[in-house]
Amino acid sequence: MARILKDYPGISLKPEDFDGTVNLFRIFGRLGPVHIEVGSGKGTFLLNQARAQPSDNFLGIEWARRYYRYAVDRVGRWGLTNVRVIRTDAAGFIAESLPDDSVDCFHIYFPDPWPKKRHHKRRFICPANVEHLIRCLKTAGQLRIATDHADYFEQIKRVIAAESDRLEPIDFIRPAGAEAGEWAGTNFERKYIKDQRPIYTLAVKRT
Ligand SMILES: C[S@@+](CC[C@H](N)C(=O)[O-])C[C@H]1O[C@@H](n2cnc3c(N)ncnc32)[C@H](O)[C@@H]1O
Repeated sequence: MARILKDYPGISLKPEDFDGTVNLFRIFGRLGPVHIEVGSGKGTFLLNQARAQPSDNFLGIEWARRYYRYAVDRVGRWGLTNVRVIRTDAAGFIAESLPDDSVDCFHIYFPDPWPKKRHHKRRFICPANVEHLIRCLKTAGQLRIATDHADYFEQIKRVIAAESDRLEPIDFIRPAGAEAGEWAGTNFERKYIKDQRPIYTLAVKRT
């Protein structure tokens, strides 16, 4: 039987609550390093990392209502107070609502690959979105990306390499929830590992 998902108003943010630029201090009710996961799915990364780093603040951005509700329910049941989840389009939210120099790390694990060529323009990692990610990162803030899709990974590397004056390669740090043989420890990675797909990762920091 499907679980009844509970809303937790302190965790679930609504785009209509924001008028213009988001105030991250107000969202979390405190200062602290800010991590943002783009496409947080069922919230597994958020849960494990937020529990491992209780002094840091985590915001998940998820478009799909079903995953968003699932993640909010899990965060609430785990009793985590340092996680918020918003249901919206990450590209628009970051471009229009996120302040400059405000984020310590963007986590982008298994973004939709849009494999058909005519759909490549929908891929999240593209020059316009990376421009905003850089704008929002603090100095030395990081971007951590994982994908199972070789062609998308080539695009990711090209887009990031074009910003080599502002983004410097660093080691990819595996999140707290990653188990042996995993890079990110997310639900999609676990499916892809079962299918024996290779996983590609990349991490950079803003200079
Ligand atoms: C392949 S899943 C990966 C989910 C999770 N990161 C994981 O690894 O298990 C991609 C997720 O990104 C979400 N997504 C796709 N485009 C998005 C967008 N523009 N804004 C926010 N979320 C998006 C999808 O709904 C989906 O949950």
